[in-house]
Amino acid sequence: MEINQDNLLKILDGLALGDIHYFSQVGSTNDVAAEYAAKNAPDLTVIVADEQTRGRGRRGKKWYTPHGSALAFSVILKPDHLPIHQIARLSGLGGLAVWEGIQSTTNLDPEIKWPNDVLVDGKKVSGILAEAKWEGNQLKSMVLGIGLNITRESLNIPVKLNFEPTYLEAHLDYSVERLVLLRNILEGLNHWLSLINSSEFIRQWESKLAYRGEKIQLNINDQELILGKLMGLDNAGKLILLSEEGEELRFDIGEIQLRPLVDSHRI
Ligand code: BTN
Repeated sequence: MEINQDNLLKILDGLALGDIHYFSQVGSTNDVAAEYAAKNAPDLTVIVADEQTRGRGRRGKKWYTPHGSALAFSVILKPDHLPIHQIARLSGLGGLAVWEGIQSTTNLDPEIKWPNDVLVDGKKVSGILAEAKWEGNQLKSMVLGIGLNITRESLNIPVKLNFEPTYLEAHLDYSVERLVLLRNILEGLNHWLSLINSSEFIRQWESKLAYRGEKIQLNINDQELILGKLMGLDNAGKLILLSEEGEELRFDIGEIQLRPLVDSHRI
């Protein structure tokens, strides 16, 4: 089924969402979502694009969405879902929603590379960019932007990525119906949003983490590398590492990058 406004409205019917806007081409769905949020769009408004020309990734990187090859969408979230000190959970929400959507649409068992990249067979299939709009110290809205590579064409991009990418259909022997996958991700988002304040939310996010119990390195702002064993998550979604000296360290989502330690992968 082709992605267009009518088909989107049909497939997403019955989900607890705000407005739904489709664009065949945009710069970045996160930017469009921020504009709608500034005009007071309802909670859970969804912006979907078939192609992005200025898609953005974390840490100022570009994110490419060639026409018809991927899912690229953003969801506006109002701040009243959870207390401000738990805001990192919104980042985990994206990872859990994509994890659940992929799992219920395919027979694949993805993992979440903390905080919220989604991996299939150890390669990145989806990236999530959570952005917040503040006025003073008041959170006005959040935009959760999700990009998911589906066909081979999604990797037709002009740069080499520093974490090996993949696309969903590389792991399947059939084509993926993008609209069905989108519905299943948004269903997952509704489900995990209803549990966002629970301990089950953190336990589920933690249980899907890649490299748990393994030795990893954390790259902090491209300036510092920290080695340690990945133990899990604390209540606020911080990553708990056991350092080589046996000290328990906690890391905020911030601008931290995580990758497996290729040589001595396991302790
Ligand atoms: C990352 O892995 O660095 C995050 C990538 C996030 C990409 C999505 S695609 C939809 C939304 N619009 C954007 O410009 N970025 C996000």
